[in-house]
Amino acid sequence: MDTFDCIATKFDIREFSEKQVPSDIQQRILEAARLTGSGLNTQHWRLILVRDKENLRKLANDSYSGGWVSNAAFAIIVLTNPKHNFHMIDAGRVIQDMQLAAWNYGVASCLFTGINKDALSNDFEIPKDLNITAVVGFGYAGSNPAKWKKNRISIKDIVSIEKYGKAG
Ligand SMILES: Cc1cc2nc3c(=O)[nH]c(=O)nc-3n(C[C@H](O)[C@H](O)[C@H](O)COP(=O)(O)O)c2cc1C
Repeated sequence: MDTFDCIATKFDIREFSEKQVPSDIQQRILEAARLTGSGLNTQHWRLILVRDKENLRKLANDSYSGGWVSNAAFAIIVLTNPKHNFHMIDAGRVIQDMQLAAWNYGVASCLFTGINKDALSNDFEIPKDLNITAVVGFGYAGSNPAKWKKNRISIKDIVSIEKYGKAG
């Protein structure tokens, strides 16, 4: 898929079908993460691949805004090292690369950040020095996004020319 089309057609999807995602596609998504550039090339992110149904339910229970992940085919917990002040930027990049790689293969996804960190840390044995930054759930979409429209503000609302607030 053309990169622009991939960005333009992707939605964050929280309803998934029962269909499993082949493991070679899961690996491609992880490879997209591995290939992502990070600040100073630190590559401090660590990912936990969660496929077990019971563990997906634990992820849902450990969240405030991601209960839908229990129906995902798999999920990836994104851990970053907060000693790098740019760690959240890196997280955003690695998440978006994984989501776009998935969408390229027809796999939908969404992320959540409302996490009960103590509970999740305990359930997944996460080291104390890593920040639990987000969880991304993946699976084939449960409903057809082809007719959905993006709800976004206009270019003129976000872009200034040369100086802040100056329209073109
Ligand atoms: C930093 C960030 C945090 C988000 N946190 C959550 C979340 O906690 N739970 C959730 O269901 N969606 C979450 N989302 C998904 C957003 O709600 C979604 O990207 C936005 O509504 C646009 O969706 P769309 O691309 O399908 O139009 C998050 C997205 C981002 C980028």
